[in-house]
Amino acid sequence: MDPYLPVPAILRRLDFTQPSVARIYDYLLKGRDNFAADRAAAEALLKQAPDLRESVRDNREFLTRAVEYLATQGISFFLDLGCGLPAQPNVYEIAARRIPRARVAYVDNDPMVAVHGRALLVVGEATAMIELDVRDPAKILADPYVAAMFGEDEPVAVLATDVFPFVEDADDPAAIMAELGEALPAGSVMVHSHLSSDGFDRRQIEAIEHVYAGTSARMTLRSTEQIRDLLGDRWEILAPGTTAVSRWFGPLPPLSEPPRSVTYVGGIVRVRPR
Ligand SMILES: C[S@@+](CC[C@H](N)C(=O)[O-])C[C@H]1O[C@@H](n2cnc3c(N)ncnc32)[C@H](O)[C@@H]1O
Repeated sequence: MDPYLPVPAILRRLDFTQPSVARIYDYLLKGRDNFAADRAAAEALLKQAPDLRESVRDNREFLTRAVEYLATQGISFFLDLGCGLPAQPNVYEIAARRIPRARVAYVDNDPMVAVHGRALLVVGEATAMIELDVRDPAKILADPYVAAMFGEDEPVAVLATDVFPFVEDADDPAAIMAELGEALPAGSVMVHSHLSSDGFDRRQIEAIEHVYAGTSARMTLRSTEQIRDLLGDRWEILAPGTTAVSRWFGPLPPLSEPPRSVTYVGGIVRVRPR
């Protein structure tokens, strides 16, 4: 498939009857780019995890703060894998406020993300919206925009927040992370997060995975230990480690809110010197 299909060609591939993981996430974030099937799937998830909305908000806050932090550290190139439907503020806006020469390659395999991305995310040469699959890292790395970014030999930040839950064990998510780590210039980092299975019992895990089995991508819930294992030895885990994302940058949830029953677990990792 052409990763740069023009909008009319993408529109023909849109399916509003099957829930899409991008639109479910948009609904959980109180966005408007979702349809009845997406909302029904999201409501079924909320039955299992009533505070999922708050956890999703934590995840988005983590992504925002991580991009801000990395931009202040001088990182100007971002590869946003499974970027999702445009949310406010978007990654380019966050980064460019700190580092005006920022460049962002947005990658997602959802056609609606590609359409909206082309309309709302693409800002001249500073960004690209590329419709590709994270399970095919070689194709992503060979994309001309991404290859040019990596070719500058400056550290890059890969953003992989809430996308690896949609890569099943059979597709070897650890090998994908290792392949990315292998290809990145020295000093590159990855911001990653993953909805954790830790707060759920077996019945809830099955119910959640059952909802996603009827959507555009199956979800695999993993424990904190399994999430850490995905990183293998190509990535060095930075402090405070692979942990609840709200522990990374705050602001911590207000004391008036009950502790989250479900959490996104993640962190920032750096590619080890070769
Ligand atoms: C839950 S959203 C996360 C959005 C954003 N990364 C964030 O953390 O706010 C997951 C996104 O990953 C995308 N996605 C799922 N599987 C994918 C795959 N195999 N390749 C590329 N994108 C994928 C979905 O289409 C969706 O937009």
